[in-house]
Amino acid sequence: MYLQIRGVELYYEDTERGIPVLCIHGFPMDSSMWRNQRPLTSIARLITPDLRGQGRSVLAEGPYLMESLADDMADLITHLNLDRTVVMGLSLGGYVALAMYVRHPERFHGLILSNTRAEVDTPEAREGRLRLAMRVHREGTQVALNYLDELFSPATHADHPELVDDLKSRVAQAHPDGLAWMQLGMAQRQDASRILPAIHVPTLVLCGEDDVITPPEKMRAMADRIPGAQFAVIPRAGHLSPLENPDDFNREVLTFLQQLPKK
Ligand code: MLT
Repeated sequence: MYLQIRGVELYYEDTERGIPVLCIHGFPMDSSMWRNQRPLTSIARLITPDLRGQGRSVLAEGPYLMESLADDMADLITHLNLDRTVVMGLSLGGYVALAMYVRHPERFHGLILSNTRAEVDTPEAREGRLRLAMRVHREGTQVALNYLDELFSPATHADHPELVDDLKSRVAQAHPDGLAWMQLGMAQRQDASRILPAIHVPTLVLCGEDDVITPPEKMRAMADRIPGAQFAVIPRAGHLSPLENPDDFNREVLTFLQQLPKK
């Protein structure tokens, strides 16, 4: 389905029944990365948008600042007549979720941060993003493909190489400028670590045991700064734990959703 949100046509899917969970995808992905979370629909209403310029959403002028993406998400849930939802974000989706918490804390019923971080980039990482954005803009999405191998755990490479191939073929079809604008937006993101102690909704922090981008010890330290947050490591998973090990990921999320106070 498409909705006009803040002047941009955004694509989203909505399973319509259950506890609303807004699922915000990572980079350079789209909402299809949540396809293994269907079993959660036993109790959850999954709302899975493609962020602006990604997947089936329309390309808009960037850079895509996290604050702007957060406002898109808040408007989306308003359009769906929801006061509050659980917000679940993976990596980039986690940056957006934290920006959304800063700007719209009253819209949260709960928070699930998966394979993400609150800090800004190091100067080197920021430089790398600017270089990648320029190359993707000039040469196309092919230049982003090599980066994808390190998103997956050794177990996924060995047992499910089709997941790696599938992501590569999806990214090859993505809009290069959408990816470039997103890199530029992530490079400019604000430090969200100062708000971690001020998060006052039930929070679950999940990390893949083989995640080399947001490793478990860093994610545990992040969880420790959020009052009452639960933390779990997903085995046999790298940076894309919901896709790589959906059984364990979904079990953690289901348990968390079942414990949420009723609205
Ligand atoms: C992601 O998976 O969304 C990316 O690793 C985010 C990033 O590039 O920082």
